[in-house]
Amino acid sequence: MVDVQHLSLNYGDLNDARSGRVPPGGVLGSDAAGVVVQAAAEGGGPAVGTRVVALTSGAFAERVAVEVSALAEVPQSVDLAEAAALPVAGIAALQALRAGGLAQGKRVLVTGASGGVGRFAVQLAAHAGAYVIASVGSLARGQDLAKAGADEVVVGLEGVHQPVDLVLDNVGGPQMVAAWELLASNGSLQSIGWTSGEPAVFQPYSTVGPPKSLASFLIGGEVGADLATLVQLVADGSLSVEIGWRGPWEQVPQAAEALIGRRVKGKAVLDLRAVAG
Ligand SMILES: NC(=O)c1ccc[n+]([C@@H]2O[C@H](COP(=O)([O-])OP(=O)(O)OC[C@H]3O[C@@H](n4cnc5c(N)ncnc54)[C@H](OP(=O)(O)O)[C@@H]3O)[C@@H](O)[C@H]2O)c1
Repeated sequence: MVDVQHLSLNYGDLNDARSGRVPPGGVLGSDAAGVVVQAAAEGGGPAVGTRVVALTSGAFAERVAVEVSALAEVPQSVDLAEAAALPVAGIAALQALRAGGLAQGKRVLVTGASGGVGRFAVQLAAHAGAYVIASVGSLARGQDLAKAGADEVVVGLEGVHQPVDLVLDNVGGPQMVAAWELLASNGSLQSIGWTSGEPAVFQPYSTVGPPKSLASFLIGGEVGADLATLVQLVADGSLSVEIGWRGPWEQVPQAAEALIGRRVKGKAVLDLRAVAG
C-alpha cells in the first residue's frame, strides 16, 4: 500500500475519461510515486517507509494498493515528483524502442517528440547511440530537444528525406502514413498513440514492397524491471525528466487543458502533499 505524494497526468488518462473506459465515479490514473505504508502480505516487496514509483490503475488516489511487480524503489537522490513522471511515458518509450530493434547507429524518428513519451524516447535512443530525428508541431515545441540528444529537430516531417530504421509514432493520421513511406527495408514503425485524432489513408500498394512492419504498441509484461531501469538512469544522470506543468492536485482540470492544448513540454505532475518527498 502506497501513500501517494505525486501523480503524473497522461494523455491516456484523458482518453480513459472521455471514452468512458473509466466511468464517472471510477478512479483514473496510472502514474504514482510515494511511500510504502503497508508491506505486501506475501513478502518480496519493499518495506514500510520505502520511497517507490508505480504503474497501476486507479493511481489518482491518496493511497493505492500496488502489485510488487509493478513498482520500483526510488533512491533519495531522485526527486519523487520526477519519479512520478516516469511510469507510462518512460516505459512506453523504453519498450517501444526495444520492440522496434533499437541499436547503435540506427536512424530513429520520434513523432510527438515534445511530449511525455517522445521526450523520453529521444533521450533513450540517443543514449543507445542511435541517430535521432525528433518531430514536433512547431519549432518552439522543439526547444531543448537537441540538448536532450536529438541529432535533428524537425517540424512535421519537413526536410526528412533519408530512410529511417525505426519510427516511434505518437501522432497517427497523415503523418504516420508519411513516416511509413520513410521507413527503410526491414524497418519497424511502432504505433504508440494517435494524438492527431485524424485518419490514416495509405495509397494503394504503399504497403507492398521490401519487408517492413507497422506494429501496434501496448505497454506489457512485468513493468517493475523497466521502471527500475528508468529510475536508475535518472539517478546516474543519463535520463532527465522535464516537468512542463506542475501544480497541486486540485488543479487537475488546468493540467488536462494544458495537455490537450499542447502546452506541456514533457510531463504534467500533480502534487498531493504540500511538502515534496
Ligand atoms: N500504447 C501505449 O501503451 C501508450 C503508452 C503511452 C502513451 N500512449 C499514447 O501515446 C501518445 C503520446 O502520449 P504522451 O503521453 O507523450 O502525450 P503528450 O505528452 O500529450 O504528447 C503528445 C505529443 O503529440 C503532439 N500532438 C498533440 N496533439 C496533436 C495533434 N492534434 N496533431 C499532431 N500532434 C499532436 C504534441 O506535440 P506538438 O505540440 O509538438 O505537436 C504532443 O507533445 C498518446 O496518444 C497516448 O495516449 C500509448
